[in-house]
Amino acid sequence: MKFGNYMILEFPSKSCNEAFARSAVACFAAQMDPTLEELGDIRTAVSEAVTNCIVHAYPDKLGIITLRCRILKDNVLDIVIKDKGVGIPDVEQARRPSFTTGGAERSGMGFTIMESFMTSLEITSAEGRGTSVHMRRKLQRRQ
Ligand SMILES: Nc1ncnc2c1ncn2[C@@H]1O[C@H](COP(=O)(O)OP(=O)(O)OP(=O)(O)O)[C@@H](O)[C@H]1O
Ligand SMILES: [Mg+2]
Repeated sequence: MKFGNYMILEFPSKSCNEAFARSAVACFAAQMDPTLEELGDIRTAVSEAVTNCIVHAYPDKLGIITLRCRILKDNVLDIVIKDKGVGIPDVEQARRPSFTTGGAERSGMGFTIMESFMTSLEITSAEGRGTSVHMRRKLQRRQ
């Protein structure tokens, strides 16, 4: 398959769009015939990334979140979630389990969950310019 399938969504950082985003990705991924476990992992990772945009990227205003999903060869689902918010000053530190700037309400486990549920996770960020979270998940081929 040279030209794989893809979809791009854009929505404001309203908290109701967290459920929308994870369901939209799950609907898109359904054509790959995922297992329920794979679908659950993908939904959770998307939910964590979109929640971060809502909570951290745009702490006291609404901003734009973009979501792109592609199907790559060898049954790989590729997901990019982007914001143009405050950015992350130190990505390595932010990726550490339990690191949070969110106070007692947050456990600092979002990136750790994304990393363990997905096959790969890359984060690029620039202070004041925004953050991009790029995740991939290789799905089993079912006979
Ligand atoms: N899109 C983003 N924009 C700005 N900062 C972010 C973004 N995503 C994450 N961060 C920063 O990275 C930290 C770690 O994120 P992570 O998702 O691992 O934990 P958390 O959101 O603080 O807690 P939890 O996800 O467990 O509720 C956040 O506390 C925040 O400082
Ligand atoms: Mg989080």
